[in-house]
Amino acid sequence: MKILIINGPNLNMLGIREPDIYGAATLSQLEKMVSEYCGGLGIETEFYQSNHEGDIVDRIQAAYLNTDAIVINPAAYTHTSVAIPDAIKAVGIPAVEVHLSDVDKREEFRRISYVSPVCIATVKGKHFKGYIEACDILIKHLEK
Ligand code: DQA
Repeated sequence: MKILIINGPNLNMLGIREPDIYGAATLSQLEKMVSEYCGGLGIETEFYQSNHEGDIVDRIQAAYLNTDAIVINPAAYTHTSVAIPDAIKAVGIPAVEVHLSDVDKREEFRRISYVSPVCIATVKGKHFKGYIEACDILIKHLEK
């Protein structure tokens, strides 16, 4: 089983960026934690981060027929992108949306997600643990 973990714009700045909201740990620490957790379950992981919407669309398309599940934190594109959910629908790969912060308790515009409707679940406000929860949801879904 292979899970692709995608992080959108500004998540490469984890550790520097608004640590009161996103925490003090870095993206590579997040990736290490997820890869160790999944590795322990015999699951392969691949990680991708981009600040560019079209590159994220390209990466989702490249997952077609070679990836079992997608964990995606579309970051700011959550609230603006139609192309990213269209790509997830196009490849037909089960996906879970993750947000480090609880987007429902922040600014009004963060309550809108164009990605949620194409995902089997959304995990918000659980920081790094949310990515583990997302993997668990997808693993259970695929084992059914
Ligand atoms: C985020 C929430 C988004 O609103 C924001 O634009 C991000 C990160 C989160 O993980 O909490 O960049 O997706």
